[in-house]
Amino acid sequence: MAFWRRIWQRDGEGSLAVCTALDVGTEFAKALVFEIDDEAHGTVRGVGRKRQGLSHMQSGTVADIAAVVDNCAVALQEAEEMAGFRPTQVVIGIAGELVKGFTTTHSQERKKPDQPISESELQKLIDNVQREALLEAERAITWETGLPHVDVRLVHAAVTGASIDGYALTNPVGFQGRHIKIGIFNAFAPLVHLGALQSVASQLDLELLEIVAEPYAVARVLGSDQVRQSGALFIDVGGGTTDVALVRQGGIEGTRMFALGGRAFTKSLADRLDLPFPRAEAIKVDYARGLPVEAREDVARIVGEDVRVWAAGVELVMEELSGGDLLPSRIYLCGGGSRLPEIPAALASESFWKPMPFARPPEITVMAPDQIETVSDATELLVDQQDVTPMGLAFQAIELQSTEDPLDAALRRVLRAMKV
Ligand SMILES: Nc1ncnc2c1ncn2[C@@H]1O[C@H](COP(=O)(O)OP(=O)(O)OP(=O)(O)O)[C@@H](O)[C@H]1O
Ligand SMILES: [Mg+2]
Repeated sequence: MAFWRRIWQRDGEGSLAVCTALDVGTEFAKALVFEIDDEAHGTVRGVGRKRQGLSHMQSGTVADIAAVVDNCAVALQEAEEMAGFRPTQVVIGIAGELVKGFTTTHSQERKKPDQPISESELQKLIDNVQREALLEAERAITWETGLPHVDVRLVHAAVTGASIDGYALTNPVGFQGRHIKIGIFNAFAPLVHLGALQSVASQLDLELLEIVAEPYAVARVLGSDQVRQSGALFIDVGGGTTDVALVRQGGIEGTRMFALGGRAFTKSLADRLDLPFPRAEAIKVDYARGLPVEAREDVARIVGEDVRVWAAGVELVMEELSGGDLLPSRIYLCGGGSRLPEIPAALASESFWKPMPFARPPEITVMAPDQIETVSDATELLVDQQDVTPMGLAFQAIELQSTEDPLDAALRRVLRAMKV
């Protein structure tokens, strides 16, 4: 079921599927050009990055399409030249405060448990879940924007699990039983954000394969049994936003974002030390690397104060995600903003986790590209946590296109019928 365009290899040894992943971040547009082999393993062949201007993005969402297209074109060209080929298809990540990701679980008691579940019964169930989810997203976004009618669109949907009478199944069709339960993760966004990303893809002359919710991509990328079994929290600290995803009981339960990231820290330094923004950025990066900087104590104090505000934001969204239940004691960090040593330190401090529903002190892990088994990097340019999000997008391209999960296929049929 792979929809990828294939290209002929230079050595004439058959064809390979190729694709581009584009992470339109607040601070950097990042492009990865990669190949996918027949075992659904990805290899990154080209990497490109372009810093975005201060007015080009607004907390994770596109604010100036023409400028963002130009930045992405630069990043893309760099990646394509390095790879030596140009994929025609792209996967783009979506983030920002108004992207709402959550799993809706629907249980139903079947009137005739003896009868095997049919395809149409399953589709009807999925249809119910999706309608419920759409209403919930509309309510949330309407409430947050304060506008009565915001056109909300589904950007990304995936089945997270299904069971009959407590028995987990990959495809319920043909099974008998009374209690059927299905969970679907959906990410919704206002049409205006989605439309902007679609314009970016089309102006870059690329065919848009999928738009993927970034925190979802990050939460899936490790694919480790440990995460599946004991759950985890994933935090991507970018330039403009912090994205949090909760994985519990094997599936993604929800994602939340708030508009605070590395740029806010730089801006504070610029304001309070009366420096131009680029200078403050350089000081922050040097400080984070442990290099000598002038007025180090002032910098440390300002950063410390800001990180406390940031940690309060994380606490708020984690409380909300927890839904009153225990949180998994494992936190994975990524994104360039998390290079500031105060960030992991804040999460590890007792004052952060003590008041929260953690069963034990959380273990903090900074993610690294070599922990990602499904995508390898032939360029050796992907070095740290800042590169994890684009790799997650690449993995989503592979995962979405190569699995022939019958539940996901049923979900896609329903989505086509609903035209969301
Ligand atoms: N060594 C460093 N120390 C501290 N901060 C750093 C360092 N390197 C990068 N950053 C910060 O990381 C941020 C950029 O990270 P990243 O590329 O993950 O963001 P983005 O994806 O563009 O933004 P977003 O995800 O919010 O849309 C910037 O604010 C930058 O200042
Ligand atoms: Mg980012």
